[in-house]
Amino acid sequence: DPYAHEPERLPALIVRSQKPMNSETPMELLTAALVTPNDLFYVRNHLPVPVVNPDTYRLKIEGEGVRAVELSLEDLKTKFKRHSITATLQCTGNRRQEYNTSGRPVKGLEWDGGSISTAVWTGVRLRDVLRAAGLEEDEPLVQHIQFEGLDTDMAETVYGASIEVDKAMDPAGDVLLAFEMNGQALPRDHGYPLRVVVPGVAGCRSVKWVGKIIASAEESTSFWQQKDYKSFGPNVDWDNVDWSSAPAIQAMPVTSQICEPAAGTQVDDDEVTLKGYAWSGSGQGIIRVDVSADGGKTWHQAELKKVPQKRGRGWAWALWEATLPVPKGHKGPLELVCKATDESYNTQPESAAPIWNLRGVNCNSWHRVLVDVQ
Ligand code: MTE
Repeated sequence: DPYAHEPERLPALIVRSQKPMNSETPMELLTAALVTPNDLFYVRNHLPVPVVNPDTYRLKIEGEGVRAVELSLEDLKTKFKRHSITATLQCTGNRRQEYNTSGRPVKGLEWDGGSISTAVWTGVRLRDVLRAAGLEEDEPLVQHIQFEGLDTDMAETVYGASIEVDKAMDPAGDVLLAFEMNGQALPRDHGYPLRVVVPGVAGCRSVKWVGKIIASAEESTSFWQQKDYKSFGPNVDWDNVDWSSAPAIQAMPVTSQICEPAAGTQVDDDEVTLKGYAWSGSGQGIIRVDVSADGGKTWHQAELKKVPQKRGRGWAWALWEATLPVPKGHKGPLELVCKATDESYNTQPESAAPIWNLRGVNCNSWHRVLVDVQ
């Protein structure tokens, strides 16, 4: 069984698939703290978790414009300056379920809104490691930095992804080779002993158990770069999709979620308290979350909690809370709504149907929860 050496996991996680492990963080635990505890952080694995010996582990660097280099964990920890960032990771499939309820089913794990979490990541800058391997700024032969994981399937295919070299080399891009998560060694599920963290970008590019980095003129040729994490118009379906016609998803759009109250909650007060998260890609911090207790006719502003982050480097989500009056005399179903705005004034589309796409990615429509007023 290739899954015989999986790590222990908390029963609190909501499992969407066992082998490979895919599990999301329960809503009420997501909003408990700005930083998600390691054992509650969502898990998105495509393959079995590899068993890596930290003593013999080597990170290989190769490709165009670099010297072929092998680095031990000790080399990484002692020869480069350490750097920490607070960053949210989100799966492109977060909130996928909402496309299914819009009437047209999509293919993929049935994620609710819990395939998102935030941690303080510590490691070294990818930029520093590439420069030490000889990569010059604006090297014309290099457009992409590819990553390969140490996780493989039966046919020895490894998980792979790539990012643009400009993001990798940007001193303000904060791309890390991380060996710590919230002050502890990375847990096995999250990439022990070393993972890439590409803040502001879809979680799929933050390759775990990274074994090899390749500087190249080309993107990663992996299935996940070429034929999976891409989005299309609602006119494109499985019989006419041309995967090469769309770019791989890198930065993700602004989104938000009502984590509490849960759908179907009975409200017997004249007020209702909402809690949730909001996040945007490209380091665009959240500046506002608007909430409504009448399906979006009238709006209030939620109070935001976030870690201090520079403009353009807002890698972490905002948590938010608001107490709203229940419309006078209202009984029965009541629609709670939220929508967020980021520092570039991007906001969310009103409904999911017009952004429907066959893989069910980037669902960021207004989030709606129906509660029941007694
Ligand atoms: N890296 C490897 N090697 N293998 C994987 O399956 N999954 C990716 C990414 N990195 C993956 C990987 C995806 S799709 C996501 S969303 C994030 O890891 C999830 O990171 P997490 O499990 O630490 O939350």
